[in-house]
Amino acid sequence: MAARRGFVAGNWKMHNTLAEARELMKGLREALPKELPVDVAVCPPFTLLYPMGREIDGTAIKLGAQNTHFEAKGAFTGELSPAMLKAAGCTYVIIGHSERRQHFGERGDVLRRKVTAALAAGLGVIYCVGETLGERDARMTMGVVGGQLNEALVKEMDASRVTVAYEPVWAIGTGRNATPEQAQEVHAFIRSRLALTFGPEAAGGMRIQYGGSVKPDNAAALMGCPDVDGALVGGASLVAGDFARIIEIAGTEARRHKGTQGEGTKGQRDEEADRR
Ligand code: PGA
Repeated sequence: MAARRGFVAGNWKMHNTLAEARELMKGLREALPKELPVDVAVCPPFTLLYPMGREIDGTAIKLGAQNTHFEAKGAFTGELSPAMLKAAGCTYVIIGHSERRQHFGERGDVLRRKVTAALAAGLGVIYCVGETLGERDARMTMGVVGGQLNEALVKEMDASRVTVAYEPVWAIGTGRNATPEQAQEVHAFIRSRLALTFGPEAAGGMRIQYGGSVKPDNAAALMGCPDVDGALVGGASLVAGDFARIIEIAGTEARRHKGTQGEGTKGQRDEEADRR
């Protein structure tokens, strides 16, 4: 199996003023070891990207944005381009989060254009998929997730720079996480669909994060699953001790179950090099 390096990202959503963010990063720097056991990113709101870039200086923590526009420049009031995010110090961008789909109507063609533009600008993409409770109850999970993968990911893309985050909508911010069995089932399905698009070898190297109420007390069980390569963490990423603990657990599980403490794929190494 290809060596996948674990990857934990914190999605701050619309939280933290500058003062609060500095306090959080101070706590995180104190709680984390210098050598991180997995790749780690924090994804603050846009206004905090530059100052958080300074906060992570000298650490292995990377910066991600929560959204991007797909055009390079122009009359798009209120939007930011992938090149602007890159220049602000971002290594990653989250695309297609369920809150963007639900509240801002993002889907299909728009998401594919966003992923394409972000990759072209040299960003790594965290592409989110996941079903609602109604869809799960109606046994539509695989159909919905498969459709979300197909609408945005196409074979011409550099798969090694794409991370997929499986985030069941019913588990986000609800305190109700998927069971490890539910997560593994969907993650394995996602990898099989990625193999159809990108080929089995590329798919074997792609990271698939689980997201939805990940906390220190459920992180080991979730990240112990063979196809769960890390986590996209919302609420718990706002608490330095909790986020650091999840990162530590991700490292332990990566070593124990998967031997994924490898070099990572070429795209993942390029991301690492970009940061330096
Ligand atoms: P949560 O959010 O950890 O607060 O459930 C996860 C996410 O939406 O990325």
